[in-house]
Amino acid sequence: MSSENITSVARESRKHTAPRDFQAQANIGSFARYRKLYAESVNAPEKFWAEQAAEHLLWRSMWKKVLQWKAPHAKWFVGGKLNVAENCLDRHLGTPRENKAAIVFEGEPGDQRTLTYKQLHQEVCRCANALESLGLRKGDRVAIYMPMVPEAAVAMLACARIGAVHTVVFGGFSSEAIKDRINDCQAKAVITADGGWRRGKIVELKANVDRALEATPSVEHVIVLERTKNPVSMQTGRDVWWHDVVSRASHRHKAKAFDAETPLFILYTSGSTGKPKGVLHTSGGYLLGTTMTAKYVFDLKETDTYWCTADVGWITGHSYVVYGILSNGATSVVYEGAPNHPEPDRFWSIIDRHAVTIFYTAPTAIRAFMRWGDAYPKKHDLSSLRLLGSVGEPINPEAWMWYFKTIGGGRCPIVDTWWQTETGAIMISPLPGAIPQKPGSATLPFFGVVPKVVDDQGKEVPKNSGGKLVITRPWPAMLRTLWGDDDRYTRQYWSDYPGIYFTGDGCRRDSDSYFWIVGRIDDVLNVSGHRIGTAEVESALVSHPSVAEAAAVGRPDELKGQALVVFVTLKNGVETSEALKETLRQHVAREIGALARPDSIRFAAALPKTRSGKIMRRLLKEIAAGGAVKGDTTTLEDFSVVASLQSEG
Ligand code: PRX
Repeated sequence: MSSENITSVARESRKHTAPRDFQAQANIGSFARYRKLYAESVNAPEKFWAEQAAEHLLWRSMWKKVLQWKAPHAKWFVGGKLNVAENCLDRHLGTPRENKAAIVFEGEPGDQRTLTYKQLHQEVCRCANALESLGLRKGDRVAIYMPMVPEAAVAMLACARIGAVHTVVFGGFSSEAIKDRINDCQAKAVITADGGWRRGKIVELKANVDRALEATPSVEHVIVLERTKNPVSMQTGRDVWWHDVVSRASHRHKAKAFDAETPLFILYTSGSTGKPKGVLHTSGGYLLGTTMTAKYVFDLKETDTYWCTADVGWITGHSYVVYGILSNGATSVVYEGAPNHPEPDRFWSIIDRHAVTIFYTAPTAIRAFMRWGDAYPKKHDLSSLRLLGSVGEPINPEAWMWYFKTIGGGRCPIVDTWWQTETGAIMISPLPGAIPQKPGSATLPFFGVVPKVVDDQGKEVPKNSGGKLVITRPWPAMLRTLWGDDDRYTRQYWSDYPGIYFTGDGCRRDSDSYFWIVGRIDDVLNVSGHRIGTAEVESALVSHPSVAEAAAVGRPDELKGQALVVFVTLKNGVETSEALKETLRQHVAREIGALARPDSIRFAAALPKTRSGKIMRRLLKEIAAGGAVKGDTTTLEDFSVVASLQSEG
């Protein structure tokens, strides 16, 4: 899409400054202090990052060079050595944090468990020993397909501890999706569970892994956590129980120091083509970015009980449930299940019972809470909260205000954090004690981040006009490449504007220079805060024997942000029917996962195309939104196609 088409209609002007007592205790307590540090971070970046890296992380050997930048490839803290797990765990031992809760866990059935830093450290050491005893070594890839239980974090940190590279696959993805990811990164081992609890039912994780592993020759070992006691089949020689290999292993493990650029994890995310992209993050820069943003954006204090509701299967779970939070020695709440099980007040009940002070969730959840009604939060004491956060998609001002008043009681600042799987850490967000918030705006950039809003030629657009959001300088937590496809990395992010990172988002800056993210401008949808590539859905659909052609588009949706609408043409002789619609919806869920299940399927005799054969998605979007087709249709090959789609609508 050309940047001329990006318009932003949000014209929210309310400004909220944190209450004086919040500011007085904040890690960054004034706008002047933010401006000063920001100026230092962009005027002398290498000096700034060197100081921050020394202050925030534990290094075994110091780096020789802060940044080696040969666009589009960055190396940070070259020659420096550290161990990420040691930073998240060992360095808190022997301090007052040793017996502090690292993870406060609540399972969906109501079971609870607290792991202190000392206990979490022991678990991670056991798991690291178990992985090594299975022959896993530095650089080996390990797939993690787990429910939201402490062992998911244990598995991630154990990989980090031995230098293995984890790839967490969200528990809602299908066996097809697991298979593709394992094969793409050639994982040697899988860590999973006999199931996880979701809305009172068991998610059959192990059964999904078994199906995936029928076609993944690289996998030698599967470790299975017993979570639900759901019967599973265990393949001799390949599958072992967590309680046999991990729980019985020694709780002592010596962490080796690894180079700062050692790969830490691969996380697959949707792009504008059919194949998910394996975003690669490395150790030192990623940990510095997540540690600093966690400390300053969430204003972390020793006494906080912090809860981020994201699953570890997403980047938010990596950066702000596990790495950035534990590295700060904070207490992280982990909840396994659904927000409305057994009742729609589950989240508020957790906040009340655990006295959560910082709560970080997604706009789609906030809109669902709004719809469920105020009675549910009102039933609980939410006065422990002091800060709220939002991530994943633009938050509409109504949802912002509801969150502010009904959940935050009008006293909690809201940090609307803009970032991506690729950026690793938060990039644009208020620092809650320093930057006044405007509902719907992610406000201003974090230290060292230099974003701009530009036109197609790369020229900055005037204030209040729309353009493309780019980041003009490398930052420590940036992705390093796409696993196994460095060309795609260059093409995807660095070729629209050479040497400059293109985010894929549309944006506008207002007269205070605040950033207002409009949303994706490529063929990526944001459904309930999760990225889904239209091409992925289309390729899933055409893999069904009755489908000839498919086009997936987004329709604005009050709850989910965007709903997924697909237009399908069937093969000759195949009859349309409601049953077939349902079959196709299930087919997509099986191929990708339930989160990609189309909200609506529309059969069409033909799809609108240009004379050169390109599907005109813009027209389909307009049709899906229920409006008339506006704008230019002169490149359309056959207008009758559109006319018939509209009349069927
Ligand atoms: O479009 C932006 C939207 O989510 C995209 C990144 O998705 P993902 O890599 O899955 O990471 C989500 C969690 C960081 C972005 O390109 N997005 C994320 N946060 C915001 C947002 N849009 C507006 N405001 C946000 N705070």
